[in-house]
Amino acid sequence: MNELWLLLTLFFGFCLYYMLKNKLAIFFPSFSGMIKIIDGFADVEKDDVLYDLGSGDGRILRHFAEKGLKCVGIEHNFLLNRISKKKLEVYPNVKIIHGDIFDQDLSDATVVIAYLSRIVTKRLQRKIENECKKGTRIILVSYKFSDWNPIKVRKWLWIPIRLYVI
Ligand SMILES: C[S@@+](CC[C@H](N)C(=O)[O-])C[C@H]1O[C@@H](n2cnc3c(N)ncnc32)[C@H](O)[C@@H]1O
Repeated sequence: MNELWLLLTLFFGFCLYYMLKNKLAIFFPSFSGMIKIIDGFADVEKDDVLYDLGSGDGRILRHFAEKGLKCVGIEHNFLLNRISKKKLEVYPNVKIIHGDIFDQDLSDATVVIAYLSRIVTKRLQRKIENECKKGTRIILVSYKFSDWNPIKVRKWLWIPIRLYVI
């Protein structure tokens, strides 16, 4: 009987996790190996403007801020927003917006990084199509755009990271 409860709990736990991951883009940080791949794909120059959509605790922003790049993070979670602002207050080239990515204009971005969820990425594709200028590099962690072919794909463990150029 105890084993049955354990199995049921595991099963429903997994279903709940899967639903949340696909729907809500809950916080899960990019590890240094992933940031290394993102960095290679972004191939930034001094005048690039980099957006991290759902910037979490700001670790991606910090990586690029150290290169002197203009970085913008958008994060709707109040706590993560406060933590990242505190961590990155020493970088005058970083702006972190507390809000929803769908309320912000992305037209000045030259590099966009997003590690969200399947459903949010689908919605983001339309926004990027409408707002971003030609030549913008889009780096998606884990999820993908439908119908668009990535220029490059690399995996960190089992997690794919894709580069698209509009
Ligand atoms: C998987 S985490 C990635 C965090 C960070 N970009 C990184 O790679 O370490 C996704 C983040 O996106 C944020 N997020 C999800 N949907 C959002 C939205 N619509 N607007 C702003 N932030 C959002 C979550 O709060 C979470 O911090």
